[in-house]
Amino acid sequence: MKEIVEKAPAKINLGLDIRGKREDGYHELEMVMASVDLNDYITVREREDNQITLESSCSKIPLNPKNHAYKAAFYLREAAGLQDRGIHIIIDKRIPRSAGLAGGSSDAAATLRALNQLWDLNYSLDKLAEIGAQVGSDVPYCVHSGCAYVTGRGEEVQPLAPAPKVWVVLIKPPFGLSTTSIFSEVEMEKIRSVDIPALCQAINEGDYKQVVSKLGNSLEDISIARKPMIQKIKNCVAASGADATLMSGSGPTVFGLCSSEKAACRVVNSVKGFCKEVYRVRML
Ligand code: C5P
Repeated sequence: MKEIVEKAPAKINLGLDIRGKREDGYHELEMVMASVDLNDYITVREREDNQITLESSCSKIPLNPKNHAYKAAFYLREAAGLQDRGIHIIIDKRIPRSAGLAGGSSDAAATLRALNQLWDLNYSLDKLAEIGAQVGSDVPYCVHSGCAYVTGRGEEVQPLAPAPKVWVVLIKPPFGLSTTSIFSEVEMEKIRSVDIPALCQAINEGDYKQVVSKLGNSLEDISIARKPMIQKIKNCVAASGADATLMSGSGPTVFGLCSSEKAACRVVNSVKGFCKEVYRVRML
């Protein structure tokens, strides 16, 4: 049976600003997202029947219609009028779950790109992103990946110049956080705003020093109030010599940026003392 393998990179938020609450219950966001070299791998394989089935190396993700990759396959099949086509999706999971790294959304996006090839649909990335928006707010960005300016609910994606090719240390605390629950605590008058246009300008000018000074995440205070360990990790990352440290998305993963491999190794060694899940990767 024909099959396609597609990489699903994790993302970090270099910037996340909340512009307001929307009538549909979501928030109007302004973000800078960047892909890092920590990947799940998605394999899509034709089936002889019309079922959508799932298999994964990770026993903790749902292997049913709740899975983002399942939903992606379902919506793409509907859009293409191919309801008679069955598909088996294999998810080789390496990105931590409920971490703020968009692992599930990236799996959905990779499923869309892979099926686009498997079924010879020739859909543009914009069209796949539009279909992906039905699965989740981060999926349109994940369809494009790379470094991007993302607005609206997450469905408006504009590419930026590549993010500085620095080392990224990802530290995933031993708990997850629910995005819905963190967003439910947003009070517009209390949150810290982030200057996203200045961050975009710094990225487009390739000015790493400015990038570092403009990083910010409006959700960080809420997640830290819930889980103070996030602040402890940030303190440790800063003290061990990273150029900058921030929480990604709604957390709880914290990342540190380091311009040298030596500095990144030092950060890894420092945080390993109290956090098991640490990854040293490159900005893509
Ligand atoms: O779209 P998705 O299901 O991934 O979003 C998860 C949750 O994050 C939503 O239920 C919502 O509470 C919150 N969210 C939001 N505003 C956004 C994106 C997500 O409030 N723009």
